[in-house]
Amino acid sequence: MTEQTLIIVKPDAVKRTLVEEILSRFKKKGFAISKQKMLNFTTEMAKEFYSAHSSKPFFDELVSFITSGDVVAAIIERDNAVSLTREIIGNTNPKEASAGTIRGDFGISITENSIHASDSRESFDKEVNVIF
Ligand code: CMP
Repeated sequence: MTEQTLIIVKPDAVKRTLVEEILSRFKKKGFAISKQKMLNFTTEMAKEFYSAHSSKPFFDELVSFITSGDVVAAIIERDNAVSLTREIIGNTNPKEASAGTIRGDFGISITENSIHASDSRESFDKEVNVIF
């Protein structure tokens, strides 16, 4: 059954003009892009988007980074979209992400890790409402 998920190409990757390269990895895996837009998160949006992490020690850094420049958000779809997307993006920490994953190939640090993806249908429902 077709499923949707949300990806955010983060400011570090947008600045390095990696958007097309990153989106092409999903297209090659058979994803359709149903919505796409460039935006700059406000602090209010960032706090809402990452509210699950609000008590974490890295929360301020996370909000500061995601609001630091343009991002590209896309709703992408195919069967098993959520779990397959998590495989394609790789481990949160680029140092631990396998080569061939997006974070393994492009991530700079755990903060500047190039891409976000919803980790569940519930997260997708919440995140998509912040962005679209
Ligand atoms: P993302 O998938 O956007 O979701 C939450 C983000 O928090 C994650 O990517 C990382 O960029 C960031 N993050 C997670 N763990 C840490 C950590 N230990 N230190 C700093 N940032 C983190």
